[in-house]
Amino acid sequence: MKFFIDTANLKEIDEARSLGVLDGVTTNPSLISKESVSNKKEIHQHYISICKRLKNNENVSAEVISTNYTDMIQEGEELAFLHPKIVVKIPMIKDGIKAIKYFYNKKIKTNCTLIFSTGQALLAAKAGASYVSPFIGRLDDVSYNGLNLIREIKNVYENYDIKTKILAASIRHSLHIIECSKIGVYAVTSPINVIYSLLNHPLTDIGLEKFIKDFNKKIK
Ligand code: E4P
Repeated sequence: MKFFIDTANLKEIDEARSLGVLDGVTTNPSLISKESVSNKKEIHQHYISICKRLKNNENVSAEVISTNYTDMIQEGEELAFLHPKIVVKIPMIKDGIKAIKYFYNKKIKTNCTLIFSTGQALLAAKAGASYVSPFIGRLDDVSYNGLNLIREIKNVYENYDIKTKILAASIRHSLHIIECSKIGVYAVTSPINVIYSLLNHPLTDIGLEKFIKDFNKKIK
């Protein structure tokens, strides 16, 4: 399973890279707004800085903020032409589906975001989305089991040998990542603190402390 990091922060991307677990990056307008960018030029420059940190076969999803077809095409093309590692992230709305089809025909990769149902995932795949981003945590927040959605989409995609990749998003804790790996999704996109939380187990800490104590008792 691939580990994408859900951030627009260069330091966090570098941290994930240095941990050796980075396979790609996803951003969204809320994440971009946390960075020191205040206009389109700076945002584009920021995306280029992210791209420069990525290796072969890695990519970054850059989201359009337009919500009508014509503007989404223009904005998406601008993003795609910034760097070959950019995947255009498109919201799951009617004009978004049309835009995904347009980009599919132009061989520009897309990530359909804000997926909350299997029907939406099916439609995005039909239009030719390279990735779908179903939001687990936000579904859990409204008392719907987000992981069940991931299972259902995986099942439907397998029924028809659909090539669209599931990029499980809105990851809130380590169990989301573990369960996604059991389901067998292509990738999870997670904040760095959730990746770090995979490290934790009290028996690891106790075991390590004992190993070092035993060693130091005997060996000078
Ligand atoms: C990534 O594609 C999504 O935009 C992101 O995972 C949403 O996460 P959130 O629900 O924690 O904001």
